[in-house]
Amino acid sequence: MITLAIETSCDETSVAIIKDKKVLSNIIASQIKLHQQYGGVVPELAARAHSENIAIVLQTAIKKSKILLTDIDFIAYTNTPGLISCLHVGKVIAQTIAAYLEKPLLPCNHLVGHLYAAIIEDKWQFPVLGLLVSGGHTQLMLANQHLNFTVLGQTLDDAVGECFDKVARMLGLKYPGGPEIERIAKLGKPIYKLPLPKNDNSLDFSFSGLKSACANIIDKEKNNLQVNNFASSFQITVIQVLINKIEIALKKYNPKTLVLVGGVSANQQLRLAVLNLKVKYSNLNIIVPKLEYCTDNAAMIGILASYQIEYK
Ligand code: KG4
Ligand code: ZN
Repeated sequence: MITLAIETSCDETSVAIIKDKKVLSNIIASQIKLHQQYGGVVPELAARAHSENIAIVLQTAIKKSKILLTDIDFIAYTNTPGLISCLHVGKVIAQTIAAYLEKPLLPCNHLVGHLYAAIIEDKWQFPVLGLLVSGGHTQLMLANQHLNFTVLGQTLDDAVGECFDKVARMLGLKYPGGPEIERIAKLGKPIYKLPLPKNDNSLDFSFSGLKSACANIIDKEKNNLQVNNFASSFQITVIQVLINKIEIALKKYNPKTLVLVGGVSANQQLRLAVLNLKVKYSNLNIIVPKLEYCTDNAAMIGILASYQIEYK
């Protein structure tokens, strides 16, 4: 069974070919350079770039997978959530290929897709607890069976990635801010004291207070700000919040598998902190997907589609 998957929800144009839950190809054209000059994603430009890139990305994915177009059994695409004009490009391409090949279309949820990135190279034992940390979302989710995730908690304001991006911008760093903060944090020490946001027993998150606290310090210190030390303090605070919330959920729901997914899970310090939970929770199977599957990609959408075909 061969699935062609398309992901165009934000600023990555991606096409993957999946055969029996194996990734044959996963081509990603990033638009980071295009949006960098504006300090964030410009939806109209993103949609235009998807239209310009999708044909070559599609061609490359098919060529690399060594399949023929006529071998494809299903066409999967991200239908929500995301930037409407961007999602539309993927949908139209998917519909066109499906109509031409006379094969079924499979709309897929982007957030569930991120979770399924963690099953591409690993096995799940249920219950599965998932922490999704991306530019638009921060959610803790639990599933007792495939395709049945319930949201345990989520951010009440900014997403983690958004907070990284906004604080990076305040520090004069380029977009996307997450990798930039990580880069300079390596050169510093966490000497600044920042508040732990929503440090309670709930499973919800809040990052706008931390963002304001950062703005106040940056404004107060001005040229005296030790930027590397500040980035290190910010990063460690965010990681502490995420670990605290994971631990509350682990104690409450006792899952067998923990997965960390989404763009922010590319952060090496966060990955280490999550993997380190193994010391305390030795029976827990902890999965953090490889970097290619952390940020937006079509492989995760194609794998999710494979499970939709099997279980729905
Ligand atoms: O999942 P993703 O590629 O797109 C969305 O669906 O939002 O996530 C993008 C987010 C951006 O906010 C970016 O700054 C953040 O992931 N990010 C990171 C790192 N790499 C990407 N945040 C912290 N550390 C990183 N290394
Ligand atoms: Zn995403």
